[in-house]
Amino acid sequence: MVIDIITLFPEIALAPLSESIIKRARENDIARVQPHQLRDWATGKHRKTDEYLCGGGQGMLLKPEPLFAAIEELRRPESKVILLTPQGTVLKQALVRELADSNQHLILICGHYEGVDHRVITELIDLELSIGDYVLTNGALAAAILCDAIIRLLPGALGDERSSEDESFSDPQLLEAPAYTKPNEFRGLKVPDVLLSGHHAKITAWKKEQALQRTRENRPDLLP
Ligand code: ADE
Repeated sequence: MVIDIITLFPEIALAPLSESIIKRARENDIARVQPHQLRDWATGKHRKTDEYLCGGGQGMLLKPEPLFAAIEELRRPESKVILLTPQGTVLKQALVRELADSNQHLILICGHYEGVDHRVITELIDLELSIGDYVLTNGALAAAILCDAIIRLLPGALGDERSSEDESFSDPQLLEAPAYTKPNEFRGLKVPDVLLSGHHAKITAWKKEQALQRTRENRPDLLP
């Protein structure tokens, strides 16, 4: 899968994708992540990428010309162009799965300052995505998070193929059950007996009940 990222901060976008599982996936060519410096498409002596808001208001916006030039150069007929912005629809695992399965060429546009000129959105963007209801200084971190979530689902990225099946949000209405490892007792705190019983049906039932309880406590909004 090929993912192009257009940003003023290519290093920020790439750093989280340069360790561990995602680093290996990239080395094995399961995913190719190509960060681009937006300024390379800016013209003029100062290669300016931002401007004041028309009609007044605080802050700066990314200008349309460099973004149009960058997207038109990198875009192919099958590409999906995604803008990372707090104004977007909030990313969920179902969409991550859809994007991973589509194996489509993605172009991620990272907003900065107050965002991008709206003509970029109406003319070039297929999808506006937010990674959550909070505001980051720029979209490069959000792009890295989206890449991480997608790439780990690509075939061969995780060593154990099942490890992405059995986790929170595989069932979008339920979090994962609590998990334990050795030692069986630590500072007087015991691993629940059922997990050491070897009784698979009982373990499955326990996990289901625990997952429900955890979801009720932490994310009641997920329950039907
Ligand atoms: N840029 C700034 N904040 C963001 C967010 N929450 N999601 C995506 N991009 C962003």
